[in-house]
Amino acid sequence: MNHNPIFLALDLPRLDAAEALARRVKGHVGGIKLGLEFFCAHGHHGVHEIAKIGLPIFLDLKLHDIPNTVAAAMQAIHVLQPAIVTIHAAGGRAMMEDAKAAAGEHTKVVAVTVLTSLDDADLASVGIRSQAEEQALRLADLAHLAGLDGIVCSGHEVAAIKRQWKDGYFVVPGLRPADGHDHQALADQKRTMTPHDARHAGASVLVIGRPITRAQDPVAAARAIEATL
Ligand code: C5P
Repeated sequence: MNHNPIFLALDLPRLDAAEALARRVKGHVGGIKLGLEFFCAHGHHGVHEIAKIGLPIFLDLKLHDIPNTVAAAMQAIHVLQPAIVTIHAAGGRAMMEDAKAAAGEHTKVVAVTVLTSLDDADLASVGIRSQAEEQALRLADLAHLAGLDGIVCSGHEVAAIKRQWKDGYFVVPGLRPADGHDHQALADQKRTMTPHDARHAGASVLVIGRPITRAQDPVAAARAIEATL
């Protein structure tokens, strides 16, 4: 556990501000997560700029399309040498297999199961009769069968999933430091956990955004979180 598992979710609209912040906290995080919004706004150029900082890059693109298209998209981002890329498990086994086959040797391909924005009623409205939790476990099994490296899951699920998938790579968002200020803007994450507890439950990667990016002193916030691990 000596390398830093924190990936900073750099969800800032401006490239210059994102880059400046990443440079400041660089010594206290293990990587940078760039999402779909960043990629749509700044593309390969933006990723190259952030990659110059020298930290591993996690492209959280949540790819979901026919297998051929997802594989081609994976090939198109190959040059960016991402350490981690996300795809949707709901795309099915063939899509996941083809995505993994198309990814670079050093890229972990991890699946999103059920978006935390969907509840049981939302699932029913798209014809899925299982509860969200049951559906997430089913899709985690399918991702494992498809040969992916791991999944995105909550800190509350990671220990149970790890029992079934011992060498899985588990990416955990929704984290809040114990001493975090109860900021209104952070309240959209419901079932949160501390970075320390998630790490000890078996998380491979801790995705942390606003507790660092919106802190008055992002360097101090990142350092304080790092010290708890
Ligand atoms: O700012 P915060 O620490 O909440 O950032 C969490 C990051 O993880 C964001 O980039 C968000 O899109 C992502 N995420 C999440 N909850 C999930 C899946 C991904 O917050 N269930």
